[in-house]
Amino acid sequence: MSTAFDAAEFRKALGAFATGVTIITTKAADGSLIGLTANSFNSVSLNPPLVLWSLAETAASLPVFRAAEHWAVHVLASDQEELSGRFARRGIDKFAGLDIETGVGGVPLLKGCTARFECKNAFQYEGGDHIIFVGQVLNFSRSESAPLVFHGGKYAHATRREAPDAKPRSAALSGSFNEGFLGYLLGRSHFQFFGQIRAQLADQSLSDDDFYLLSTLTLRPLISTSELDAGLAAVLRQPSASRLPALAERGLVAQLAMTAESDVAEYRLTEAGRDTALRLISAAKAVELEILERMGAEDGAILKSLLKRFLGVVDPDASVLWDDPTQVAGKIPGSGWDS
Ligand SMILES: Cc1cc2nc3c(=O)[nH]c(=O)nc-3n(C[C@H](O)[C@H](O)[C@H](O)COP(=O)(O)O)c2cc1C
Repeated sequence: MSTAFDAAEFRKALGAFATGVTIITTKAADGSLIGLTANSFNSVSLNPPLVLWSLAETAASLPVFRAAEHWAVHVLASDQEELSGRFARRGIDKFAGLDIETGVGGVPLLKGCTARFECKNAFQYEGGDHIIFVGQVLNFSRSESAPLVFHGGKYAHATRREAPDAKPRSAALSGSFNEGFLGYLLGRSHFQFFGQIRAQLADQSLSDDDFYLLSTLTLRPLISTSELDAGLAAVLRQPSASRLPALAERGLVAQLAMTAESDVAEYRLTEAGRDTALRLISAAKAVELEILERMGAEDGAILKSLLKRFLGVVDPDASVLWDDPTQVAGKIPGSGWDS
C-alpha cells in the first residue's frame, strides 16, 4: 500500500480535524512511569465501553505499551499546554515534580485534567506506521474545566458558540451598524468596565487621563513624557505634559530634574502616587474578577487571548511600555497590571 501524496500536505489536511489533546500513561514492568502526548484518541463503543488511540512505531514507549496490561487516558484542560509539550518530548523524565495518583495496575494518573479514563489494554491492531490500541474503560472521571484543543498543528481554545438565533439585530436606518459591529461591542464594553471605577476617580478629582497616566507610571520607575505620549497614543485626550504638572502639584508624581543633555521631562510616582495608583488598579481588578466570575474564567481567558491578538493588529506598539528591559530590572514592587 503506497501513495504519491505530498506528506506535508497530507499532514496539513489531517490537521484540519480539530481534536482534544490527551496524555496516555502506563507503568513499565521495571516500575518506570511512561507517558506521551497523543491526539489520536477517540471513542469507539459505549457498551462495552471502548476507546482507542494510536502510537507511532518509532515511539520509545512502544514496547512498554505493547506489553502493558493497563493504561490511562488524560484529556487535558486548557491550562495544561505546558504538560502537553513536556509529554511530547523524548529523553526527559516526563513525570519529574508532578503530583501523581496511582490507578488500576499501578498506572500513574495526572491531576487537573478535563477527563480521565483508566483502561484495560484490550486489543492492538497494526495501522500502517502506527499501532492502534483499544482499551476497555474500567473507571473514568471528568470535570467542568474547558479542554485543550489542537487544530492545524497549533493549540487552540474551545468556547461555546452563541445560540443560532442570537443573530445581531440591525438598526432601523439601513446602512447603520448592527449589534455585532466590533466598534460597538468594544466601545460599550470599555465604558461599562471603566464606568464602575469612574466614581472612585471622581471622588479623588481624577480624570480618566490621570488614571491612565498614574497606572502607566507603575510600569517603570521613571518614564519620560515622550514615552508616555507614545505609549498612550490615542488613549490620552491631551499630551501628558499638560496634565502631569497638576498631578505633581498634588504630590502624586515627581519630575526628575532636567539635565543639560536632555530636554525631555521624566516623571516618577511619589509614594502617595503609588498608593493612589495601586488603590485604583485594585478596584479595576476587582471589577475584572467580578465580571470573570459571571462570564466564566475559561471564556474570560479566551477573550483575553483574542483581545491580545486584536491589539497586536490595531496597535502593535501597545506593548512598547511592557517590553522595556528596565521594567524587569527596576520593577516597582506590587506594580498594578499584568500585560
Ligand atoms: C498535540 C500532539 C499530539 C500527538 N499525538 C500523537 C499520537 O496520537 N500518537 C503518537 O504516536 N504520537 C503523538 N504525538 C507525538 C508524541 O507525543 C511524541 O512523539 C513523544 O515523544 C512520544 O513519546 P515517546 O517517544 O517517549 O514514546 C503527539 C504530539 C503532540 C504535541
